[in-house]
Amino acid sequence: MTWTVHEGDALSILDQLPVTSIDAVIADPPYNSGGRTPTERTGRSSRDKYVSGHNGNGTAHGLADFAGESRDQRGYVAWLGVILSKCLHATRPGGAALVFTDWRQLSVTTDALQVGGWTLRGIAVWHKPIARPQPGRLRQECEFIVWGSNGPMHPGADPVYLPGLYSASQPRGTERQHITQKPLDVMRQLVRIVPEGGTVLDPFAGSGTTGVAALTEGRNFVGCEITPHYAAIARPRLAEAA
Ligand SMILES: C[S@@+](CC[C@H](N)C(=O)[O-])C[C@H]1O[C@@H](n2cnc3c(N)ncnc32)[C@H](O)[C@@H]1O
Repeated sequence: MTWTVHEGDALSILDQLPVTSIDAVIADPPYNSGGRTPTERTGRSSRDKYVSGHNGNGTAHGLADFAGESRDQRGYVAWLGVILSKCLHATRPGGAALVFTDWRQLSVTTDALQVGGWTLRGIAVWHKPIARPQPGRLRQECEFIVWGSNGPMHPGADPVYLPGLYSASQPRGTERQHITQKPLDVMRQLVRIVPEGGTVLDPFAGSGTTGVAALTEGRNFVGCEITPHYAAIARPRLAEAA
């Protein structure tokens, strides 16, 4: 299996990927969420927004900030639409895009996918079993995976049957290397949308979890990451998985 992490802005890196070289895009963008007011959402760092004082493991506070968390909602949908259109250009006909989001950005993420030229196919749910209870409110215990395809999909002779609901906690303790790291078990299931030997693109690789999942499941990986600290964490993880 092969892997690459391009360090820099996905906006320019994606233009350099060969047309139709990608089988599926699995993107975990900076959500540009996390705050009750526009000022809180655009004026605070990723650490301020997403590192909880109640994580219980004592390590998350040492995690480094990451870039790209200061867009307001209209800026976010425009920017993500452009990124996803560049991803589409690199993806083969019938390939899929899976884009993580939270409840605040769910509606604009479905917009951005369609702005990018993808055919919207559905919304899957990532359930987090140990989410914090909220007094007098509904618990925010799910994030979402908005997904679509590059035109008609052709499942082939031996199709996969993937769940629409995934339940797993965010990594904790020494396994947690990124503020918004995704659970490896969830990502290992999602990469199966690509046939074995195919190639997964993650334009926001972070600590490289999507890539570790792809390589572990016999898929190739191409990632982009703008924050040097996290590109440096992703590379050895990917090398080990490969
Ligand atoms: C939500 S995190 C991804 C976390 C990843 N799924 C993991 O498990 O570690 C989003 C990442 O996108 C990166 N990023 C933000 N803007 C970017 C851009 N324009 N191009 C490339 N990467 C970007 C951030 O530095 C951050 O590490």
